[in-house]
Amino acid sequence: MSTVQELMSLKDRVSIVTGGGAGLGKQMATAFAEAGSHVVICSRKVEKCEEAAHEIEKLGVRVLAMACDASKEDQIEKLKDAVMDQFGRADVLANNAGRAWFAPPEETPLEKWQYVMDLNITGTFLCSQIFGRVMIGQKRGKIINIASVSGLRGKNPKVHNSLSYNTSKGAIVNMTRDLAVKWAPHNINVNAIAPGFFLASRNQGRYEERKEQILAEIPLHRPGGPDDLKGPAVFLASDASNFVTGAILSVDGGVTAW
Ligand SMILES: NC(=O)c1ccc[n+]([C@@H]2O[C@H](COP(=O)([O-])OP(=O)(O)OC[C@H]3O[C@@H](n4cnc5c(N)ncnc54)[C@H](OP(=O)(O)O)[C@@H]3O)[C@@H](O)[C@H]2O)c1
Repeated sequence: MSTVQELMSLKDRVSIVTGGGAGLGKQMATAFAEAGSHVVICSRKVEKCEEAAHEIEKLGVRVLAMACDASKEDQIEKLKDAVMDQFGRADVLANNAGRAWFAPPEETPLEKWQYVMDLNITGTFLCSQIFGRVMIGQKRGKIINIASVSGLRGKNPKVHNSLSYNTSKGAIVNMTRDLAVKWAPHNINVNAIAPGFFLASRNQGRYEERKEQILAEIPLHRPGGPDDLKGPAVFLASDASNFVTGAILSVDGGVTAW
């Protein structure tokens, strides 16, 4: 038997967070480090990751910041090689990098549809496959996919008009379930977090414009904040969730409760 403190500890684990230099990715990377994990953060602009790395290193863990477009197979392979070179293992993968394109469905250009799918679906698959092979060799691993409440239902176009994003997040929901089944024999847990509205640099403008409509949909009547993803992410990364796989955990202030 283990204590809750032991179960929730990530001491000496190695956690990779795509898009970890900002927003929800940085929040999760910080939480993993606070729980004792070494952390790898990557995004296209390495400077942001390096800045975040300087902050996170102060928690006493090792941090690797790397440039990596999480939709490009060759760059993910390089990231995996660097992780194996520096740490020799990969315990947790948070597939967080994501993008959206806002337009009514009838006006969405194919190229923008593809742009969203390339990162949100194909990138999530590629990162899972490349780091999953390492986890299969280790006979253990934790994959956390960042879906969205927008992948669980249709959305009011006045609040969120992006068929491509919502479709891609719906695909992540079922990718999570199916991959959980496929990799259960390898002792790899695959779960997803479906965040509701969290304040981030990219949606600050949308929040100011549509604050009343956005808050009206949230029973707790506030957006997600800088600590709200930490507990759910550490839970899914740690041994506390060893019997949880294929689950979609909504962290949304109650949006999907009604
Ligand atoms: N904020 C919300 O309300 C909310 C709600 C539900 C779900 N989510 C999901 O949560 C995740 C993070 O969102 P966020 O709000 O934190 O976004 P954000 O503040 O815009 O941060 C996104 C991060 O992803 C990185 N990124 C973008 N494209 C990338 C690529 N091709 N490869 C690697 N990294 C890339 C960005 O850095 P670079 O520009 O340097 O690449 C940035 O660090 C996304 O999957 C999003 O869909 C967010």
